[in-house]
Amino acid sequence: MTLSPVFINFTYIISAILFIYGLKMLGHPDTARRGNLLSAIGMFIAVVVTLFAHEIVRFEYIVAGMLAGAIIGALAARMVAMTSMPEMVALFNGSGGAASLLVGWAVLYDELRPTVGVADGVLQTAVADASTFTLVTVMLSILIGGVTASGSVIAYAKLAEKMNSAAIVFSGQRIVNSLILLGIVVSAVMFTLDPAIGSMWFWMLLGLALLLGVMAVIPIGGADMPVVISLLNSYSGLAACAAGFAIGNNLLIVAGSTVGAAGMILTSIMCKAMNRSLANVLFSGFGAAKQASKVEGEAKPINVDDAYLILESASSVVFVPGYGMAVAQAQHVVRELGELLEKNGCEVNFAIHPVAGRMPGHMNVLLAEANVPYEQLVEMDDINPRLPNTDVAIVIGANDVVNPAAREDENSPIYGMPIINVDHARTVFVLKRSMGSGFSGVDNPLFFGENTRMLFGDAKQSISGLVAAFKG
Ligand code: TAP
Repeated sequence: MTLSPVFINFTYIISAILFIYGLKMLGHPDTARRGNLLSAIGMFIAVVVTLFAHEIVRFEYIVAGMLAGAIIGALAARMVAMTSMPEMVALFNGSGGAASLLVGWAVLYDELRPTVGVADGVLQTAVADASTFTLVTVMLSILIGGVTASGSVIAYAKLAEKMNSAAIVFSGQRIVNSLILLGIVVSAVMFTLDPAIGSMWFWMLLGLALLLGVMAVIPIGGADMPVVISLLNSYSGLAACAAGFAIGNNLLIVAGSTVGAAGMILTSIMCKAMNRSLANVLFSGFGAAKQASKVEGEAKPINVDDAYLILESASSVVFVPGYGMAVAQAQHVVRELGELLEKNGCEVNFAIHPVAGRMPGHMNVLLAEANVPYEQLVEMDDINPRLPNTDVAIVIGANDVVNPAAREDENSPIYGMPIINVDHARTVFVLKRSMGSGFSGVDNPLFFGENTRMLFGDAKQSISGLVAAFKG
């Protein structure tokens, strides 16, 4: 059965509306699940309708690909730990980029393949000619797709600690990158002027695009990786958009540009949360040049029983969750402690830093999973003015996002990153296992603060101890 182009485009419009509406609903926890479902329905309609498009001549490979993809996706969703989600997102972005690259390549092959026919009884070979528009969109999908694919693999390797996560910088790096860029432009122009399957310029473009992805991500390290993942996500959308133009598929153009724009907006939000420009994130080599001032002092440990006595008389408590809460899976006992404190007449809030944890919204997801009321989640800018009037700030496995060096030490690699000012609270409990540093590898003067008490141990165990003490 072949569907008419008008019908196909009409269903594509419906899918696009479902995508955008679903995306909007993701903006609030109450509607997020339904939003996700709506977008998935939109994608389902799009896939089914596309399968009826007349260009599709064989279904065997498509069905095999869909089955393989569905199995890999389902296994990954079930088996990958929450803490490894950013690595998985990096690989998914890379797959998106690689898919767009392959689509562009296939279009090229299709357009430039010589056609063989018989005219006047003579076997004739005609070299097909691709339009400049098609060639440009194909070049773009190969270029952006290639950069996304190889850049995402490096981002994955860094996050999964399969390679050193520190920024790799060397002298002359910018010159090397500029030469790669120049090589890309020259190859793309030369190929467009004389397109042919197997052209040297095509292979050069492909190789240089992959190399650019690697070179773009290696100088970015430590705490900047989430921004890179978000940016690569945006690139994967742009690559899909270019592929959409190459194959003339309107929905791929809409979906690709939506992902491209959403990724760009998220990237900009994260840069703002760290008080840095995107150029600074991409080109400054985080932490490679700066050396934070040495932090010295004596930390004051506290045990669960003494911490309980302070909490028992507190009238306001702010929890500040971080990556360690995810590692300890302490969110459920944290909610329980919050409820016990409230019963005790205490005002309880949860301060959310935009880059706490290892992925955007990480803390919101964990706390929502534990049924912490959404009204108790307060964003960094709103909680900071309230901290000087807070009795106890409880830092649960957070480190970088509460590091006062970001505010005070101009030499610190994280200087300028907005933080949750827990040191302004009357008393601060820091729950972690050691004096070790966080993701950025920077020492934290908070641990030596006059009003700071270190509650050493696994966060879940420490909080469970406090819960038990409250229950008497
Ligand atoms: P971090 O600075 O990484 O600190 C986490 C702390 O948790 C560590 O110091 C660790 O100390 C402690 N911890 C680990 N396991 C624990 C356990 N079982 N019980 C108690 N504590 C435990 O985390 P953060 O403050 O959330 O900051 C996030 C960092 O990650 C930022 O630098 C951010 O830029 C970066 N980042 C963010 C994202 C996004 S989008 N959220 C993505 C990637 C990277 P001990 O080892 O001493 O226990």
